[in-house]
Amino acid sequence: MLLLSKIKNKIRPNYRKKKWPGLINAYKKYLPVSSKTPIVTLNEGNTPLIFSQKISELIGNDTKVYLKYDGLNPTGSFKDRGMTMAISKAKEEGSEAVICASTGNTSAAAAAYASRGGLKSFVLIPDGFVAQGKLAQALMYGAEIISIQGNFDKALEIVRDLSSNYPINLVNSVNPYRIQGQKTAAFEIVDDLGFAPDWLCIPMGNAGNITAYWLGFKEYSKIKRNLKLPIMMGFQAEGSAPLVKNIIVKNPETLATAIRIGNPVNREKAKKVKKESKGDFQSVTDKEIIDAYKILAKEGVFCEPASAASVAGLIKNKNRLKKQSTIVCVLTGNGLKDPDCAIKNNEAIFRKNLEPSLDNIIKTLGY
Ligand code: F0G
Repeated sequence: MLLLSKIKNKIRPNYRKKKWPGLINAYKKYLPVSSKTPIVTLNEGNTPLIFSQKISELIGNDTKVYLKYDGLNPTGSFKDRGMTMAISKAKEEGSEAVICASTGNTSAAAAAYASRGGLKSFVLIPDGFVAQGKLAQALMYGAEIISIQGNFDKALEIVRDLSSNYPINLVNSVNPYRIQGQKTAAFEIVDDLGFAPDWLCIPMGNAGNITAYWLGFKEYSKIKRNLKLPIMMGFQAEGSAPLVKNIIVKNPETLATAIRIGNPVNREKAKKVKKESKGDFQSVTDKEIIDAYKILAKEGVFCEPASAASVAGLIKNKNRLKKQSTIVCVLTGNGLKDPDCAIKNNEAIFRKNLEPSLDNIIKTLGY
């Protein structure tokens, strides 16, 4: 027995010895929590930063492209980072219920963390525009779901009104604790690379995440001296590009339903990020999003369409890059969230309903 445990310890690499405690415990000293905060966690965070050989080659110029795969969080999106903070703080404040508007991922995360923390959750979603996986999650995790005949922007307007008049805690990204939790993704990138990338490419909807990353990089630069800050490149879908066009889009449209948002609540903060980081906001078409989605899948990384906007944007800008740049593309959500999109947009060989004989299968395979 003793011998076995000795062997186990020897072959187990050091970094597996310590269990990841969730991002609040890991980054406690940089977060607004105290010993009184009841931490509601699913051990979120610590997601992989995956080097992509294929996309690096596609970009050329000795560029190194990494994918921050936040779709590997417990509910399958980056929202878990913000939600562990928002729900823990709501619980600390004595709230009994939380509410959010959502294109799907926020509602999944809110429902999961609220249930885990013993709080009730209400979610407002645009009817018919939430991907199946996300809807399934909200149903299973135990939210009370209200779908409206309107888009995300309308839903957000309603929940903002409601939460300011009733004792329900709002957990959309106007909640400052959401941004605090989400900034830890920037910490992880710097911890993994040892420096900040030259560019951070990120999809934008309500623009909470780009705000959070920038806050994270800036805060880390105060701790780690000589940390060069990245240029922040935010991408929106062409039919839902209020930040690129600097307008309100009344009827946003895109197949990337996660970012189907026409009036981002963090507009002013995002503008500041762009200015401070000397970054840029651009749009990508649905076709460019799907092309990038397929390229990523061939690298073995299945993300949801909105997430692929970061890679689509990078591809569009490849001629602007300096030689030997390091790029991080944020993949915000897991591909399993939106199975319909995958089933409609692939070039797989899928031969159906064959006669189940060995001969027939061998012949079909071409041997
Ligand atoms: N990617 C995914 C997969 C998202 O779900 C979202 C936003 C974004 C990107 C954009 O992030 O809003 O911080 O700029 N989803 C929200 C939701 C709106 O309700 O799940 P953002």
